[in-house]
Amino acid sequence: MESKLEEMAEISTGNPVGDKGAFVRDMFATIAPRYDRANRVLTGGLDEIWRRRAIALLAPAKGARLLDLCCGTGDLSFHLLRHDGAARVTGIDFCEPMLAQARERARRAGIEGAEFLEGDVTALPFPDESFDGAIMGFSSRNIVDLDRSLQEIRRVLRPGARFVNLDVSKAPNRLWKRAFDFYFYGVVPTLGGWIGGSKSAYSYLPQSLVNHPNAPALRDRFTEAGFRDAGYLALMGGSIAVHYGTR
Ligand SMILES: C[S@@+](CC[C@H](N)C(=O)[O-])C[C@H]1O[C@@H](n2cnc3c(N)ncnc32)[C@H](O)[C@@H]1O
Repeated sequence: MESKLEEMAEISTGNPVGDKGAFVRDMFATIAPRYDRANRVLTGGLDEIWRRRAIALLAPAKGARLLDLCCGTGDLSFHLLRHDGAARVTGIDFCEPMLAQARERARRAGIEGAEFLEGDVTALPFPDESFDGAIMGFSSRNIVDLDRSLQEIRRVLRPGARFVNLDVSKAPNRLWKRAFDFYFYGVVPTLGGWIGGSKSAYSYLPQSLVNHPNAPALRDRFTEAGFRDAGYLALMGGSIAVHYGTR
């Protein structure tokens, strides 16, 4: 698996590849068992604060039906339920080993308000207007067809519902960006390799930012997908961004 990942990481960072989706899924399957620990260490625990900021922007009403897109091991789903124990949360992800971690975490904590389903965010298996809000964390860089997923997310939200997207972004200040890039592209692959168990996966993950739109461009993609009042909150000098838009 590791050598295939190395090969694919090289291809994926060089040119667009047709089977990038399968590559992304395989990559997350490899790192699923240690994903949570790696996240906490690599962000120094700051991701917990960013997740809370994202949920504050979503501002879900009590008992809302909420969708956690690319839910992975369920971090944002559990945060949503901590925010409102009456929320009904559906997590969706196309990587079964990541979902297995989410289900196991829910089982161990006795959490019943969340379900975790296998599915692709570019073809959501839900009827129109099924949710009162949607959130996505650290995933927009990995989605092969981002515009299609934005359209799908909009489709499954009821009118007036919000979508919030938290992810790494490109800081506007050159000096700060250089410092962040040193950590992100220089330290994360090695540290992530040790903790997460796959150097090639943690080399690919930072690289996925290279071709991702910067914060203003991503906001414009939200608007093009039909979200109104699209905007973003820059955190960490713009190295982290929380985008939002209303259906
Ligand atoms: C970096 S993880 C983020 C997990 C979680 N949201 C978090 O905040 O920790 C990215 C996740 O996106 C999922 N993913 C990527 N593309 C996807 C797609 N097209 N459909 C569903 N899940 C996808 C991967 O399987 C992986 O679990």
